[in-house]
Amino acid sequence: MRQFIGPNQMMAYLVMMAARLVELQRVLKPTGSIYLHCDPTASHYLKVVMDCIFGAENFKSEIVWRRQSAHSDSRRYGSVHDILLFFSKSEDYIWIDQYQAYDDDYVEQYYRYRDESGRRFMSGDLGAAGLQGGGYNYEWKGIVRTWRVPITTMQRLESENRIFYTRNGIPRIKRFLDEAKGMPMQDIWPDLESLRSWHAERLGYPTQKPVALLERILNASSNPGDVVLDPFAGCGTTIDAAQKLGRRWIGIDITHLSIALLKYRLENTHGLSAGKEYAIVGEPVDYTGALQLAQDDRYQFQWWALSLIRAKPQGGSAGSKQGKKGADGGVDGVLVFEDEAGGKANRALVQVKSGHVNAATIRDLIGTVNNEKAAIGILITLEEPSQPMKTAAAAAGFYHSPGWNVDYPRIQILTVNDLLTGRAQARHPSMNISFKQAARAQKDGLQPGLGLE
Ligand SMILES: C[S@@+](CC[C@H](N)C(=O)[O-])C[C@H]1O[C@@H](n2cnc3c(N)ncnc32)[C@H](O)[C@@H]1O
Repeated sequence: MRQFIGPNQMMAYLVMMAARLVELQRVLKPTGSIYLHCDPTASHYLKVVMDCIFGAENFKSEIVWRRQSAHSDSRRYGSVHDILLFFSKSEDYIWIDQYQAYDDDYVEQYYRYRDESGRRFMSGDLGAAGLQGGGYNYEWKGIVRTWRVPITTMQRLESENRIFYTRNGIPRIKRFLDEAKGMPMQDIWPDLESLRSWHAERLGYPTQKPVALLERILNASSNPGDVVLDPFAGCGTTIDAAQKLGRRWIGIDITHLSIALLKYRLENTHGLSAGKEYAIVGEPVDYTGALQLAQDDRYQFQWWALSLIRAKPQGGSAGSKQGKKGADGGVDGVLVFEDEAGGKANRALVQVKSGHVNAATIRDLIGTVNNEKAAIGILITLEEPSQPMKTAAAAAGFYHSPGWNVDYPRIQILTVNDLLTGRAQARHPSMNISFKQAARAQKDGLQPGLGLE
């Protein structure tokens, strides 16, 4: 492949994926399946890679997910679909039939009748002609025949108003559309729109998938209690669906932003807390780990540190390495809270420092808070603050929240150590609305949403 693709971005991506797919094949159970989502620019290459790793005989479906009904692309056909490659590990894979709604034409053609209340039904034979295993001979409304149900069933159907009579007086059964399972699921999925800004479930993560897409996959290929692994978890749609459907799960992501989003989503949607119902592996748990992360990648450190107080990162975008500085030159995150009964919001600006800090850092923060007309300024620092820093922060006084009638320190210094050990936390009016919150899961189905808005 390298010979014909060449040493370019696509090749780099395929190499990255191939290494992971080999491991995913290794850890997959014989009864398991893998679904790989990709766009049509890479799906043909990935299918070759998957054929090599999983075996062409284990290829099951190429699903066309029609994300939207129309897209205007210049000088080519509107691009509205993505591809899901479905492979099993072996022939013993779990498969649970899924159904989709009949299309309108089918309904028009077959569900031609309506009962008195308007329910659509198709007419089904009650005669046993051609039925293997014979039937039941008796007289029904003057007609002597071999019927496919015993007379007691016929009587019940009659009492339930499930029989209608043709012009010739022949009884036929009503098969109601609203009781039909539907059509076995096909490999074009046109009914799951990708998330748009106005969808309640949307969290602001650029590649977020609809939960219904993942639910369909999990329902078809796993049973409750099974383990679901998403090695590119993003804002956690698979994990959310797995939790909702009673599966166990493992999510992996390379960015701390994604881990933070996942944490909020699990808490907001399912009431789960990290360290209690589930564990996070790979986040710093002490000063040394935090220092290591800061040295490895300061943007990752920033995202992680902001997640300790649930602040929303400012500038840069999810998944990008480049956290851009805002025009004010030093705000890394923001916390938005509702400050008054009327819903008036106010902000705390957050700066994260992994390097040296001094009193000038505090003076800058005060300047930024004033310029931005924010309520509170928070410094998260890896290094312990000096006495002059503490004095400068204390001199900034308090912010009085009119809604809660509480005074909060206007400038707050929080060390990573204190946050990790729970000795300190950000102080601001509650009802943090920085992140778009995921709706709580309801027993009758949920529409989650959470994230960067
Ligand atoms: C397409 S998004 C997943 C979105 C997800 N399906 C959802 O609906 O929330 C891909 C994710 O993979 C993560 N990622 C990229 N390279 C990775 C790697 N090598 N290991 C783990 N995660 C990675 C990115 O940080 C990003 O969050």
